[in-house]
Amino acid sequence: MGDRLIIEGGRPLSGEVEISGAKNAALPILFACLLVDGKTVLYNVPELRDISSTRHILRKLGCGFERRADGAIEVEVVDAKRYTAPYELVSTMRASVWTMGPLLAHRGRAKVSKPGGCVIGARPIDLHLRGLKALGADIEETHGYIDLSAKKLRGAEIYLGGPFGSSVGATANTLMAATLAEGTTVIEHAACEPEIADLANFLAAMGAKIEGIGTPRLVIDGVDRLLGTEYTVIPDRIETGTYLIAGAMSGDGITLKNTAPDHLRAVIAIMQQTGALIDEEPGGTMRVSPPPGPPQSVDVATLPYPGFPTDMQAQFMAYMATADGMSVITEKIYPDRFMHIMELNRLGAKIRKEGNSAIIEGRAKYSGAEVMASDLRASAALVLAGIAGEGKTIVNRIYHLERGYERLAEKLTSLGAKITRD
Ligand code: UD1
Repeated sequence: MGDRLIIEGGRPLSGEVEISGAKNAALPILFACLLVDGKTVLYNVPELRDISSTRHILRKLGCGFERRADGAIEVEVVDAKRYTAPYELVSTMRASVWTMGPLLAHRGRAKVSKPGGCVIGARPIDLHLRGLKALGADIEETHGYIDLSAKKLRGAEIYLGGPFGSSVGATANTLMAATLAEGTTVIEHAACEPEIADLANFLAAMGAKIEGIGTPRLVIDGVDRLLGTEYTVIPDRIETGTYLIAGAMSGDGITLKNTAPDHLRAVIAIMQQTGALIDEEPGGTMRVSPPPGPPQSVDVATLPYPGFPTDMQAQFMAYMATADGMSVITEKIYPDRFMHIMELNRLGAKIRKEGNSAIIEGRAKYSGAEVMASDLRASAALVLAGIAGEGKTIVNRIYHLERGYERLAEKLTSLGAKITRD
């Protein structure tokens, strides 16, 4: 398979698309399998590069990891003595820092390569370490590794707020570790993202005692062990949001199956303010059609859940570039997450960055060009612009897309787009 997507733009979208399971819920849930005695069976786990990276890491850490013929994933710990997540694996995926909490809690030690920065910003892990230290971990940082150890973790009261609000990653790590700690842990300013609630529900299904799921105050009563279970991962709200924008930008309407609209209230409300027509049907089906006239411009700031997600910022910017007026998008989670501006401008948008805001002129008519994807969601924004535009758009470095969108080219092709890999 090639490394680029070639999009013939200007074809209207119509028809139906099935939304996959949530990458960002499946990842911590897979790492939480390190906490379990016995076998875990997971349904609705998407087939993505980040999931294969997780398979490599879990196997390295002594787990069996198989995808069954029916698509379910089975994970079973067979060797619970290993505790090192090496550089060559962690460097392929930041989410591997989620090995820290479970390894520490179950095996008493975790030696995990320090993740580097990435194109969307510095991305520190101080809050992860704050949470694990509060539970009693000894932490040493040497030779690029973080070495955590503890004979037995003890429950604690932990405030996990950081300079940009709550942290999804730190909440997940601390929550996973606290399930096997002795006594009660209270996490204040916990992340409320649906992926954290899904992780907590999964842990509860395995026997963890957690109150306050979905709220900023999680109370965890430690238990001696967690037992294997079967669990179905929630639908991917970012994939859903990306297709909502695709449907609002091109064609006469598309239908999205297997969605969780309650996880997308901010996105749906803001899309409706642009004039996009969105209907919800029982059973997780949504229908989206473009606004009757040109889209209205709407100002947006990204915020922790239930605010507008930073992972939808680039895609929404691609849409707002075509709106009937100027809009401002302010990034409050990752102030430098604007690598897509220059590439969208190459496709005909008129966007400039000012501090942590993007000023978008609107009324752009996208016209195909060769562009470079810089990260997962930025790549999706370029694909959306390419589909809506005239002529041929070539998106290079599509391995970013393969990290997070299951069968993107196939799904868009089934909706009527013309996309090939080269
Ligand atoms: C997760 C998601 C990512 C999403 C992000 C915010 C996964 C695999 N990734 O990333 O797609 O964009 O949530 O919704 O689920 N921070 C600190 N110190 C820390 C940790 C975070 O200062 O120890 C800061 C970050 O730099 C950022 C903010 O807190 O500014 C939020 O980060 P966080 O919620 O932790 O994001 P991730 O879990 O890395």
